[in-house]
Amino acid sequence: MSPRLGLFWLLTLLLLASSGSRESQLRIGKAINIFLRYGYLGISMRVIPYTDNEETERWIFKEPTRNVYKNIHLLTETNEDNTPGIFHGDFHMEFCDNRRQLFQAYFRDFTIERLDKPWEAFTGGWFPDNAAKKLGINNSFIQGDYSYVLVRVVRFRETGKLSTQIPINQTLENDVRARVEQMQIGNLTSAMRFMESFGTHYVNSYTTGNSLYQVFVYSRKNYKMIKDRIKSKGLNGLSKLDLYNYFAPWFAEHLGHIRSASANATLERWARRKLQYEYYVVKYLSLLKLHGNSTLLRSLDTLLGNDAILQLDLKSLNVVFREYPEKESWFHEVLDNNMKLWELNMPQNHPNR
Ligand SMILES: *[C@@H]1O[C@H](CO)[C@@H](O)[C@H](O)[C@H]1NC(C)=O
Ligand SMILES: *[C@@H]1O[C@H](CO)[C@@H](O)[C@H](O)[C@H]1NC(C)=O
Ligand SMILES: *[C@@H]1O[C@H](CO)[C@@H](O)[C@H](O)[C@H]1NC(C)=O
Ligand SMILES: *[C@@H]1O[C@H](CO)[C@@H](O)[C@H](O)[C@H]1NC(C)=O
Ligand SMILES: *[C@@H]1O[C@H](CO)[C@@H](O)[C@H](O)[C@H]1NC(C)=O
Repeated sequence: MSPRLGLFWLLTLLLLASSGSRESQLRIGKAINIFLRYGYLGISMRVIPYTDNEETERWIFKEPTRNVYKNIHLLTETNEDNTPGIFHGDFHMEFCDNRRQLFQAYFRDFTIERLDKPWEAFTGGWFPDNAAKKLGINNSFIQGDYSYVLVRVVRFRETGKLSTQIPINQTLENDVRARVEQMQIGNLTSAMRFMESFGTHYVNSYTTGNSLYQVFVYSRKNYKMIKDRIKSKGLNGLSKLDLYNYFAPWFAEHLGHIRSASANATLERWARRKLQYEYYVVKYLSLLKLHGNSTLLRSLDTLLGNDAILQLDLKSLNVVFREYPEKESWFHEVLDNNMKLWELNMPQNHPNR
């Protein structure tokens, strides 16, 4: 697909999205159509900064959704964790040999049933320049012979999941039931129309909260050295000095900005103030400053709000056809073929990108 065609798709998809009588709620059991924004899901789900601009509007989820089951809320469990105190989250590092692994790492906790590379549903439409901005790195480092370490501090706020599998006799919404009954096996149009009207997947679980992250860019040689050291000794086997040196500007080729998943300016300002190292005349920002510092983690805990999606599991809408096994396998076949087509056709998968 040429870049121009990619843009055309994006515009068409946006136009499509603004019509119809759907609502947008991140709720368990709600259905969405992943093809509507395949490759650009970050437009409608807050998972990574949309541009390099500060965000002033507060939203988490704008993807149109549909109810497919009645009373599905009776089967869901949600949990909110706002208790004050120590840090409620997770500090982790991911080693990424190349750019693709970096994309994959960022979207590690996002799964879409039947997609082998769910991260591409978010990143497939990215061009190198905007990928660099989202990840907080200078765009001369997004392409080329580099490896990366993604460091991330995540604060969980809310989780939702189904407390049990959806029972086979769970009542469908009337319009869904009617269309399930009408669907004809072997009729491609009727399967596609079903997806357009109701969706392809439903929300099986999610976690929201916020995170701070930073990408460290390395030459292949230095990257291999750190990776080997950490592999053999474990992260905790490194001395404080080693850790400090490996993530400093004299060892990395480039240190990315510290960004928040929700592009929250207050948070990013806090990071610029509090997470600075000074070594003679060299000043730089590093998330590693948080490592083991309970004072800083405690303040960050209150600053990371409920502003972004941190984990999402989408399951295929096959389930609504369970009473009719042949219809279910027909729907499944059409969905699968479409997913393969989309995966193949994303611009990222073409050699000239
Ligand atoms: C990106 O890096 C290049 C080369 O190191 C440098 O010339 C350029 O000024 C940098 N751009 C920004 C926005 O930092
Ligand atoms: C489904 O079947 C179970 C067990 O047979 C029953 O307890 C439940 O009420 C039924 N649910 C609905 C929505 O009909
Ligand atoms: C296939 O389904 C569509 C939409 O449900 C319907 O309009 C069309 O007549 C069907 N085609 C055949 C050959 O039955
Ligand atoms: C934690 O960070 C603060 C602010 O940068 C600093 O003043 C303090 O010495 C650090 N504490 C430890 C235990 O490193
Ligand atoms: C940014 O985060 C701060 C601190 O958690 C919060 O008070 C503020 O409302 C957030 N701003 C936006 C636009 O989400």
